[in-house]
Amino acid sequence: MSLIEKAVERLEGLQPDPLKKSGSPVPRDNPPLPTRPGEAGADHRWAAPDTAGPAASRQADIDVDRLAAAGFITQSATGSLIAEEFRVIKRPLLQNVLGGAAPVRNANLIMVTSSLPGEGKSFTAINLAMSIAMELDRTVLLVDADVARPSLPRVLGLPDQKGLLDVLQDKSLKLSDVLLRTNVDKLTVLLAGTQDAQATELLASEAMGRLLDDIARRYADRIVIFDSPPLLMTTESRVLASRMGQIVFVVRAEETPQNAIKEALGAIDACPVKLMVLNQARNVENVAYGYDYGYGY
Ligand SMILES: Nc1ncnc2c1ncn2[C@@H]1O[C@H](COP(=O)(O)OP(=O)(O)O)[C@@H](O)[C@H]1O
Ligand SMILES: [Mg+2]
Repeated sequence: MSLIEKAVERLEGLQPDPLKKSGSPVPRDNPPLPTRPGEAGADHRWAAPDTAGPAASRQADIDVDRLAAAGFITQSATGSLIAEEFRVIKRPLLQNVLGGAAPVRNANLIMVTSSLPGEGKSFTAINLAMSIAMELDRTVLLVDADVARPSLPRVLGLPDQKGLLDVLQDKSLKLSDVLLRTNVDKLTVLLAGTQDAQATELLASEAMGRLLDDIARRYADRIVIFDSPPLLMTTESRVLASRMGQIVFVVRAEETPQNAIKEALGAIDACPVKLMVLNQARNVENVAYGYDYGYGY
């Protein structure tokens, strides 16, 4: 199995400047995300009846054996190399959720994205969600936001069901109607939902913005991980990025062209915290190369 090597770096304050290499563990600045029209008026369809968070009314069983066989982190593989690598990846993300000297707005909304398809976004998002849900006392909501190429039903072994797209377009649905509790304790899943010709527009819509704000505000102690579309193939992923507190940017080692990385990083410039993961590096020596690759303006 290929490995995600330990290529984790905070890229906050990234500038198109070949001399600037940012590595400080705390964001230097924390610009507020732009206010959007209608932001103040929360949509109370997302509201849960109590303070315990959005109660999922439906249950789905993840095929954990299949996940394990495919090399993902599962309960039986917490000592694996991949589990150790994701401990490194999740640490700075969780520190930002807990707050610190420089609080990050909506820090619990974490987008996993990349420049292009096939770089390992879904692989990273699922492992990150499994890692956080299994090892920490935190509830994780994993959202399949790559609505054009959803992966969660196939990888997790779940039947296609209603999800994000349905709740965005059907005003009679509540978030809790489409959340799926799973057999992995503390892991809740929101599938992409019923395919729709307007899927990409829905993802960039005001309704999506309100949904995200409400989730971030009401369930600030929960981690919400978005398996997202690639930045260079779609415009809605950029809109989505502008609404996230943190972005995990996946780069496929020795595959993703440098100009693609540069353009994609430009598209997520406004997000206060970016963390890069170099995926499928062949050996540790490549990690150093990976850093330079990512910064190589
Ligand atoms: N580090 C890795 N080790 C093993 N397989 C991987 C790794 N990263 C990605 N893959 C596999 O490569 C394929 C593409 O990855 P995927 O996460 O689906 O990409 P994306 O979501 O960016 O389109 C999938 O079959 C995935 O399981
Ligand atoms: Mg994917």
